[in-house]
Amino acid sequence: MSDASTDRRDHNALPEVVPGLPARWYHDAGHYERELRALWQRNWIYICHEAALAQPLDYRTVEIGDQNILVLRDAEGELRAFHNACRHRGSLLCKQAQGRLGSKALVCPYHQWSYAASDGRLLRTTSFTAPKGFDKADYPLFRVAVAAWRGCVFVHLDATAELDPTSLFQRPPDNFVNFPLEDLRVGFTWTTDIACNWKAFWENFNECLHCPNVHPELTKLVPLYSRRIVNPLDVPDWRDHVGDNDPKYRGGLAAGRETWSSDGSAQGRFIESLTAEDLERGHTYASAWPSVFLGGYPDHVRIVRLLPKGPEQIELTAEWLFPAATLEAPDYDLGKVVDFGKLVMQQDAEACELNQRGLHAAPLDAGVLMPEEYLLKRFQDWVRTAVV
Ligand code: FES
Ligand SMILES: [Fe+2]
Repeated sequence: MSDASTDRRDHNALPEVVPGLPARWYHDAGHYERELRALWQRNWIYICHEAALAQPLDYRTVEIGDQNILVLRDAEGELRAFHNACRHRGSLLCKQAQGRLGSKALVCPYHQWSYAASDGRLLRTTSFTAPKGFDKADYPLFRVAVAAWRGCVFVHLDATAELDPTSLFQRPPDNFVNFPLEDLRVGFTWTTDIACNWKAFWENFNECLHCPNVHPELTKLVPLYSRRIVNPLDVPDWRDHVGDNDPKYRGGLAAGRETWSSDGSAQGRFIESLTAEDLERGHTYASAWPSVFLGGYPDHVRIVRLLPKGPEQIELTAEWLFPAATLEAPDYDLGKVVDFGKLVMQQDAEACELNQRGLHAAPLDAGVLMPEEYLLKRFQDWVRTAVV
């Protein structure tokens, strides 16, 4: 029993009722446009791990709302990013989601203006003569800021933005210090569409009230989640269990489980640089709103990116990253890790889609946040501050 004089209110919880965001913010087209401008065009947006842009002239295109962005590694190995739009009459330059340029020049597929991949300057038009007053120097590609943090490539639609690692994530990603993020290789990539507003994804990610019913397999792996909380300090009587080694109270993975995989086994392939404390933690997360979270596990890292495709649609892309030695080991079955991650994400996707459909109820002005949803309040405050 705890000391009766202990202040039992100092747990993580919302002390009073908090209304959620207006329900129409999850489907109104005009509001969606406001959020694109206020949030998606004013924050660093994750593209992919550097290992997916490893070779000179490798490129990726992404659509951040209605903005199509081209990210590439130039012939000298530098990352570059531009709006994927020709300065002649606006055609897309690269149609594919990814590929490798055939030369150092980007050639528009429409009338074949060409640009230097290194800095976007216009090299050549296809007209017989240059009209009076036309100067090629006036028509470079529109630049986008691009930077890598520990092997993770981000872009910012403000070309003058500078990446500040101290403010990239919502909380400092200290638990990732021992993960060799820069050196990992992409073992598997999976993309799916989810019929929900992008905020519904983040709200679902930030609470575990849904865990026992939505994620029966996950709550067996992470017993704390069976209590519908994400942190041992989320309940008023947390002091009663200080020092309790039961993962149901201290967090971490269930006894005998080593990682997020379908049988809980890491197959003997732990990330070597992790400490005993890292392994004991079992899993850790870092979010860079609005586009990405990193999940760190004893044998792999999962990076999940979302992009808005409309007021009620997102595209989710997960990259599973491993040490090269793990991927090269003939006995390592990465399917166990991928299958488990997919299962959890598909369960969440279904919950988000149900949530989305119900948000259209005409009498519903807004939902309500319960005490355990304190992280949702942080997220919703961040949205409100930007758009109101
Ligand atoms: S639109 Fe690109 S060359 Fe005409
Ligand atoms: Fe979930």
